[in-house]
Amino acid sequence: MANPFIRIRNLRQSFGSQEVLRGIDLDIYRGETLVILGASGCGKSVMVKHLPGLMRPTVGEIWIGDLEITHLREREMGPVRHQIGMMFQGGALFDSMTVFENVAFPLREESDCGEEEIRTRVTRALEIVKLASHADKFPSDISGGMRKRVALARAVVDVPSCIIYDEPHAGLDPMTADTIDRLIKTLQKEHDITNIVITHEIRSVFRIADRVVFMKDGLVYWTGSPDELERTQDSHLRDFIEGNAQED
Ligand SMILES: Nc1ncnc2c1ncn2[C@@H]1O[C@H](COP(=O)(O)OP(=O)(O)OP(=O)(O)O)[C@@H](O)[C@H]1O
Ligand SMILES: [Mg+2]
Repeated sequence: MANPFIRIRNLRQSFGSQEVLRGIDLDIYRGETLVILGASGCGKSVMVKHLPGLMRPTVGEIWIGDLEITHLREREMGPVRHQIGMMFQGGALFDSMTVFENVAFPLREESDCGEEEIRTRVTRALEIVKLASHADKFPSDISGGMRKRVALARAVVDVPSCIIYDEPHAGLDPMTADTIDRLIKTLQKEHDITNIVITHEIRSVFRIADRVVFMKDGLVYWTGSPDELERTQDSHLRDFIEGNAQED
């Protein structure tokens, strides 16, 4: 395979006496959809928050292309954050802002785009998630699935090369979850975006993943293809897959 786009080496993170990440090693390749699985509390969200530099590790290295980011100062993080968009767990939107303003927010905060450029980019992002006609509504006036799509538009508006989705399917009915999956694959195929998706939705894993990572107790426990996941006899993985399947 080509050189990894993102390389994580011996990533460790502790909060007080709790060691949450215990030496993560992981390569992420340009243009792939990587799905991260693992039990609640195993450190998935904490791990991905390190990639755009939202958390600093206790120990370890993170390479984004040729740049090692863990030693960068806050003001040097700008270019890294432009490359990596994030759809946060819970996808919190600002209730007092319209859909348009929610999506425009990262551009206003972290770029020097003029109003016209902002309007063009926000409209384009809302078209991708099929919400262009809802730009002037407030989050309270649209459905939960639409709010997720607004959060996705906000993650793509800065035209990143990589998007992290932290539980984009949570709380969605199966049809709306399908819509999110199609959007994730469209972004990969048509916009050449590298996708990192954390999910508990096992159906989606088999639909979108090129590669799967299973985390356990702050470590990468297993990596493989969706086919290998389906065939695995590993008891932790089987429990996880079947446990999830039963929730359907
Ligand atoms: N900022 C923080 N300060 C202290 N502890 C934290 C912080 N963020 C996360 N933790 C702890 O780190 C552990 C891992 O949390 P994390 O959010 O990564 O879990 P997760 O794998 O994403 O779980 P879930 O599937 O429920 O979202 C948890 O025990 C959590 O309480
Ligand atoms: Mg999480």
